[in-house]
Amino acid sequence: MIDAQTELYGVIGNPVRHSLSPIMHNAAFNRMGLNATYLAFEVKNLEEAINGIRGLGIQGVSVILPFKTQVIPFLDGIEALAEKIKAVNTIQNKRGRLIGYNTDCRGAMEALEEEVDLKRKKVLLLGAGGAARAIGFGLKERGSEVIIFNRSLDKAVELAKDLGFVYQPLSSLRETKFDVIINATSVGMVPHDAESPLPKKLLREGMVVMDIVYQPLKTKLLQEAEEQGCWTIDGLEMLARQGAKQLEIWTGEKPEINQIKEDLRKALHKR
Ligand code: ATR
Repeated sequence: MIDAQTELYGVIGNPVRHSLSPIMHNAAFNRMGLNATYLAFEVKNLEEAINGIRGLGIQGVSVILPFKTQVIPFLDGIEALAEKIKAVNTIQNKRGRLIGYNTDCRGAMEALEEEVDLKRKKVLLLGAGGAARAIGFGLKERGSEVIIFNRSLDKAVELAKDLGFVYQPLSSLRETKFDVIINATSVGMVPHDAESPLPKKLLREGMVVMDIVYQPLKTKLLQEAEEQGCWTIDGLEMLARQGAKQLEIWTGEKPEINQIKEDLRKALHKR
């Protein structure tokens, strides 16, 4: 029940109406027995939104496109990892001080580390946008050997330079044997779900293949990876785990990850 004690949380972004975060976080708050609620805010003016968070005492906020980097100058503090990545996806209101975190990176690393020890593994990272950047920093911290491929070469060059990784055109990857392949692009997402970011012949038995796309859950890439005998990690893993880490930052409690995945699966089925 919402009453005068209810604490408010939310997500700021634009567009934001597609976000699964309200379903995920409200279900978790309920299960955790917390008097809290979570709403979606479609923000046009970021500075005004941040003033609103302060002014109304909103306890915690998720940050999505296009504000993950833009939000940084408005905060009072930022954890080291988010500062390095230059992206914040989580804000905690600590008695009036707004502190920024990045749980995208931790969520993706946890999903991968369930399957594979990343140290010294050869990883092909597809993409050079915000998600690839967060994942790339995590891989660097864990000592993976990463090759970046991106449609726009200039962005691949820039990310590779920031991380000390190499970049390569897809055409030259034929001979390389990877331990892990990560799709951090939006290729394969509905309505373009007949596409894969990678030719099937690059997928080999025993590889770990992760996709951050979660609509559909079984992307063409993951379907082909299964056919080739790879281990697969779907987009729900990163989504659920980054959300679980947000809940932990806000409430100090560790939510049940399988339950969060179940909530998200149900929400996706309804779409
Ligand atoms: P996010 O924050 O989710 O990573 P983004 O910063 O817009 O979003 O990055 C999207 C990524 O998907 C980029 O790597 C983009 O490639 P470009 O840098 O060349 O734009 C990639 N991407 C999106 N649509 C693509 C497509 N049809 N083919 C290949 N890559 C695509």
